[in-house]
Amino acid sequence: MNQDIVEQIESLKKERNAIILAHSYQRDEVQDIADFVGDSLGLSREAAKTDAEVIVFAGVHFMAETAAILNPGKTVLIPDLEAGCSLADTISAADVQAWKDENPDGLVVAYVNTTADVKALADVCVTSANAVSVVTALDPDRPIFFVPDMFLGAHVERETGRKMSLWLGECHVHAGIGEKEINSRLAEHSNAEFLIHPECSCGSACLYLKPDAKIMSTEGMVRFSQSSEADEFVVATEVGILHRLERFSPEKRFFPVKESAVCEYMKMITLEKILDSLLKNQFKVEIPPDIAKKARRSLESMIAVG
Ligand code: 13P
Ligand code: SF4
Repeated sequence: MNQDIVEQIESLKKERNAIILAHSYQRDEVQDIADFVGDSLGLSREAAKTDAEVIVFAGVHFMAETAAILNPGKTVLIPDLEAGCSLADTISAADVQAWKDENPDGLVVAYVNTTADVKALADVCVTSANAVSVVTALDPDRPIFFVPDMFLGAHVERETGRKMSLWLGECHVHAGIGEKEINSRLAEHSNAEFLIHPECSCGSACLYLKPDAKIMSTEGMVRFSQSSEADEFVVATEVGILHRLERFSPEKRFFPVKESAVCEYMKMITLEKILDSLLKNQFKVEIPPDIAKKARRSLESMIAVG
């Protein structure tokens, strides 16, 4: 059955000059048919450089919006419009505007997990892979509003030594990965390397428990585990990443801190919906041109930082 769907997707992709971009939290079978799998930064870069006419985005809505913003004139499809993000939903453009009104000399740094409206009001975007380097490069004399993830914001503050105003948003999946789960998993695998996503709620507590914990983006985890001499890793993030970690390091062992750390929005995308998306040209992600123009500026500033 799956094989039949995969063949139909492959042939429609050729016919329509389409590519499939997938985030590392996608279902295993979706990652397996994608042309590119990666973290938010890798996906933004890939979306910015593709020659394909149609981008099917196997991820959540803000990621598909980012692809659409970076590709005016191309068709960007998301196979399920309900695939949202609890973190992006914590902040609106009005919230950002209110801070800007009170801080006319301030800079707004928006994590990519935000809507296009919020990105349009930001000075620069960041992902978990480059937030520290982007903030380091900003004018030290201007106040910064970092939105919307408070745990990533706190990590950036620790790394850069720079105090920022933090929006108190969180992702329900990562906020649920706390000290208790981590303690028990680390006790079971005391020689393992510990990889943790900066959206997790336990950032500072984790560093106290295990000072050599590696706080990194999903793709950072893939690269680090490939080159590390360790052969066991405890992983604190959404469990979809395990497929990619195991694929690139089949001889190593990966243990999720929390098996139930599953993003239901990411899992809404299925092979059947991808096929439907290509067949029916649905669901188009379109951003009003004035919003897209402003949001593109903040995304391009981010992509330029590396
Ligand atoms: P990455 O950029 O590390 O892939 O994270 C995206 C995300 O949504 C984390 O929950
Ligand atoms: Fe959003 Fe959290 Fe899902 Fe990432 S894991 S897409 S931050 S809800």
